[in-house]
Amino acid sequence: MKTVKLTLNPLDKKSKINKEIYSNFSEHLGRCIYDGIYVGEDSDIPNIEGFRKDVVEAFKELKLPVLRWPGGCFADEYHWKDGIGEKSKRKHLINSNWGHVVEDNSFGTHEFMRFCELVGCEPYISGNVGSGTVQELAEWVEYITFDDLSPMSELRRKNGKERAWKLKYLGIGNESWGCGGNMSPEYYCDQFRRYATFCREYSGNKLFKIACGPNADDYNWTEVCMKKITPWNMNGLSLHYYTIPTGDWNRKGSALEFDSSEYYSTLKSTLRMEELVTRHGEIMNRYDPEHKVGLIVDEWGCWYDVEPDTNPAFLYQQNTMRDAIVAAINLNIFNRHSDRVYMANIAQAVNVLQAILFTEGTKTVRTPTFHAFELFKAHMENTLIYSHIENEEVSEGVPALSQSASINEAGEMVITLANCTLDREYSVDIGGVCEINYAKGRILTGEVHACNNFDSPENVVIKTLDVKVSGGKAAVVLPACSVAEIVLN
Ligand code: AHR
Repeated sequence: MKTVKLTLNPLDKKSKINKEIYSNFSEHLGRCIYDGIYVGEDSDIPNIEGFRKDVVEAFKELKLPVLRWPGGCFADEYHWKDGIGEKSKRKHLINSNWGHVVEDNSFGTHEFMRFCELVGCEPYISGNVGSGTVQELAEWVEYITFDDLSPMSELRRKNGKERAWKLKYLGIGNESWGCGGNMSPEYYCDQFRRYATFCREYSGNKLFKIACGPNADDYNWTEVCMKKITPWNMNGLSLHYYTIPTGDWNRKGSALEFDSSEYYSTLKSTLRMEELVTRHGEIMNRYDPEHKVGLIVDEWGCWYDVEPDTNPAFLYQQNTMRDAIVAAINLNIFNRHSDRVYMANIAQAVNVLQAILFTEGTKTVRTPTFHAFELFKAHMENTLIYSHIENEEVSEGVPALSQSASINEAGEMVITLANCTLDREYSVDIGGVCEINYAKGRILTGEVHACNNFDSPENVVIKTLDVKVSGGKAAVVLPACSVAEIVLN
């Protein structure tokens, strides 16, 4: 077993790690909203006002900060007035983005806002720019946030909500370069300026307006947005980047069946996130040296081929220890770039893509990705500190270890570490500009294909990690394929 040094300097304080980095995304896609979050009040599945009780509890446990909705591609064909009022009278429509299934609109604005209240998270609404109008989005904001007398607030009251909600995060279009309208960046920027002008701030509500940002490495998109819309009240610019194991969208690879070479190519694809946030960040720095505009990575995660015999449009995929490692690498990157990365939303919350939860009837499964989020949640609202780990390459361009460290107001340090190798164990000596007196740890580890399913929901679970403390230093043993959290002071 090789010994490596992890050096910490809590005096070298960097940026704040916003809790928003640990956010999620829920779309009207497959079984994310219906079955996953919402089952209706008459369901036999234990629910609170129609929302799955187990899912509410799981999100609360993770302290979910923000939930994005209603899409994704779905958002740019969503007309919010179809999803309000008496349920039996709501329009039944075709979900033309995701399998042409019937969308009965039983989960709409009131349901989303209530679900967020139950979970205790902030809502993030992604507005329709692709097929909607400025008036439609402006009225949605009025409906949600205006407390005095107006046509939209009266409509809201008629639908049973007397007082306005608060809404902070508002996305102006989703993937406007693709499913959101196939726009050029110049055309999109003009659209953003129109929409942002008329989405007003009512009744003391403050909007954080998020512009549609680039697809992966489309640096020109970022350049144009920063040039054309910064003065126009853009608070955030989104970035979408998915991990595709094979790099080929037509044959992405299986969630469960992969060899070591495909495992490492998955990690290599994930590590591109570092380059993307760095290079988009550099462009943003030129126009916004004060870092007023946040980079919002509001879609990220592994995208595999769907599970055999499932609807190809439902994007249902299993989740293994590989996904936990991918989550850890990404979250460590976001922490280390928290001077620019303001929010990140993994895709997606339940039953879709790199889901944190699976549901089937009354059963729920917490995926390895859920557990990775659990191990990282102590970083929320902490300050990033200097950390350095002695590292080595395990496969072409893939380092063996991934790390980030932060400190909270009480002076407690939090370290998250991933051993990304399939076969190397490391002994990690932790020290630096600090005297360690106390430490505790937790670990998620298993064979890389290990997963949780409805027959074995606790195959991969968090266990206690033994941390030795002596002479002001700490030491842990990190097994192959593991994610760990260490708390020290
Ligand atoms: O998350 C699935 C889809 O991926 C979203 O709808 C879209 O924004 C992206 O292309």
